[in-house]
Amino acid sequence: MVTFRCHGCGATVDAVRVLPFRCPNADASRDDTDHVLAVDGELPAWSIGAESDPFLRYRSLLSPYRLARATGLSDAAWGDVVGALDRALIAVDGRGFRITPMGEELALARALGLSGRLWVKDETLNVSGSHKARHLMGVMLYLRVLETTGLPAGRDLRGRRLAIASCGNAALAAAVVARAADWPLDVFIPPDADPAVRKRLDDLGARATLCERRPGEAGDPCFLRFREAVAAGAIPFGVQGTENGLAIEGGRTLAFEMAEQFGRLKTAPDALFVQVGGGALASALAQGFDLARLIGLVPAVPKLMTVQTAGCAPLARAWQRLDGLDLSLAARQRSKFMWPWETTPASLAHGILDDETYDWWAVAAGMRKSGGGTIVVGEDHVAAAHAAAHAHTRIRASATGTAGLAGVIAAPTAGTRIAVIFSGVER
Ligand SMILES: Cc1ncc(COP(=O)(O)O)c(C=O)c1O
Repeated sequence: MVTFRCHGCGATVDAVRVLPFRCPNADASRDDTDHVLAVDGELPAWSIGAESDPFLRYRSLLSPYRLARATGLSDAAWGDVVGALDRALIAVDGRGFRITPMGEELALARALGLSGRLWVKDETLNVSGSHKARHLMGVMLYLRVLETTGLPAGRDLRGRRLAIASCGNAALAAAVVARAADWPLDVFIPPDADPAVRKRLDDLGARATLCERRPGEAGDPCFLRFREAVAAGAIPFGVQGTENGLAIEGGRTLAFEMAEQFGRLKTAPDALFVQVGGGALASALAQGFDLARLIGLVPAVPKLMTVQTAGCAPLARAWQRLDGLDLSLAARQRSKFMWPWETTPASLAHGILDDETYDWWAVAAGMRKSGGGTIVVGEDHVAAAHAAAHAHTRIRASATGTAGLAGVIAAPTAGTRIAVIFSGVER
């Protein structure tokens, strides 16, 4: 049977009976543990399909598929669940999930004066224009499996709304996936949210709630309202592993695709530069490449080089404090390493200004394991990366989505075969 385990406190969750989203011990008072649930006993009997939809191709590596099979659903029934959502996604967003392109960008590498090679994975072509939809598709498939199997964990599921705190790519991805599944969604957004994003959320039928800061309240008001909604019964449908560990899983398909694409090119990256906000993307890539190595898709995991802006770098701060310390001990002393960034930052890469790197622990574990580290870039590098990406590639990514490349500009010798992800189409 499928179980989930918390990397901080070790609690296990039986997927038949309980939703494996937020660790059951996460709300214990005066608890300083970093709680994130992940599927236990990785490496099931796996195989890679021939399909171009990653949620079919890598199904044996997805916990909702394992749960479906363990509770009697056929492989064809999984295909039906994915296929129905795929058709709905195409109707809502004009595209379903397909392997996104990855290519060597010679002109870009030359323009940046790199002596090594550079590959870019283009996630601007993904559902809703960014990789974020992968995270949420993983969660939605899990919900659909619970509905289809009628397991106790899925009791009264349809009566509960989905909830997310975001006003950017994650909100748009959530709204597209929720609309495709015909599941009502609440989006908690700040009063200054981009009117174009608000309009799109509205068009997709998501209910947006403007979250003003309340007097005497500390922390992000959108996140606080999201938490309240979840406490009142909403299903966490965001991309922070702490709130819903399952969101990380869907993001791992990105690493599986890259590992296969590098395999076909008969090479492998030695460094992966990733822009980090809440940390779900980097966490998913670290875990995905680790799994890809275990099953022989890549010979070794690339060095995970995480990129934040100087205006907001809570992960780099945590990484410095972690120096030489036992990670399992750090997981039980979260507040010594991760706390909200004190100042209100601004950056061209505004999508990675999360005041906490929620998934810091798994990202740190990935950096440790791969010999990587953190890079803090200035606005000059953020702007240069965005400009170079537009001048020397055909990919129309936002400055948030090219911020990984800013790390390459800042630390060009960190790898000789470098991979980056461009995500978040310029809107
Ligand atoms: C385009 C893009 N790339 C990367 C990220 C960073 O992802 P994460 O918040 O999971 O670290 C974001 C987050 O909003 C994003 O929009």
